[in-house]
Amino acid sequence: MTLLNVNIDHVATLRQARGGSEPDPVKAALAAEKAGAAGIVAHLREDRRHILDGDLFELRRRVSTRLNMEMAATAEMTEIALSVLPDTATLVPEKREELTTEEGLDVAGNRRAVAETVSALQEKNVAVSLFIESNPKQVEASADIGADMVEIHTGALANASSQKDADREMLLIKDAVSSALSAGLRVAAGHGLDYGNAGAVAGIKGMEELNIGYSIVCRAVFDGMEKAVRDMVAVMGGKTG
Ligand code: PXP
Repeated sequence: MTLLNVNIDHVATLRQARGGSEPDPVKAALAAEKAGAAGIVAHLREDRRHILDGDLFELRRRVSTRLNMEMAATAEMTEIALSVLPDTATLVPEKREELTTEEGLDVAGNRRAVAETVSALQEKNVAVSLFIESNPKQVEASADIGADMVEIHTGALANASSQKDADREMLLIKDAVSSALSAGLRVAAGHGLDYGNAGAVAGIKGMEELNIGYSIVCRAVFDGMEKAVRDMVAVMGGKTG
């Protein structure tokens, strides 16, 4: 069964719109866990546009499932991760001007730098996942440098403008999943997944978990966090809390 990790960044986006304390991303995380999330994801960005450093420490104290910290492979973020000690760190590329993480990490082009961050985290028992495009070169490089897991970028599938494009993206994702599994990597996927497309991605053989944020937070505005999470777990074919 594929597990759901709920990304609560956009609860913090709403809070930052007024710079106060509501809505509280930690409260959202606890509601998501109650409804069946297997883990919580939060991305501490260099510009602190949504999640703040204090949120991560509080999440570490309060999350009873698994905490996945998304981060750029920088010295600043590595230091914070080594102090928070999340269960998993997902390394993502980060550009200041982007609305969200647009591309996968170029592991093949930055082997040495990524490998250094991977081993610094693993030394403290933080499992490391690399957010990559469904590209065989990136899968191979991720396995070579000793990552524990890869998260396959599903943005191109989510943005496909025709069924033909969606089918092609799905094949690329399936190929990436099977080569990652053969290379001994655990596999996740995420980005742009919603109530329409998450079921198919969850159904890929060997897919261990999906990391989903925006669509769940959008539904939560109208239906509440618990229902939004339960609905997503059901779409993925799992049991709700
Ligand atoms: N996985 C990664 C690596 C991401 O950067 C994001 C966006 O923060 C997600 C998953 C979740 O994407 P979405 O918010 O579109 O569900």
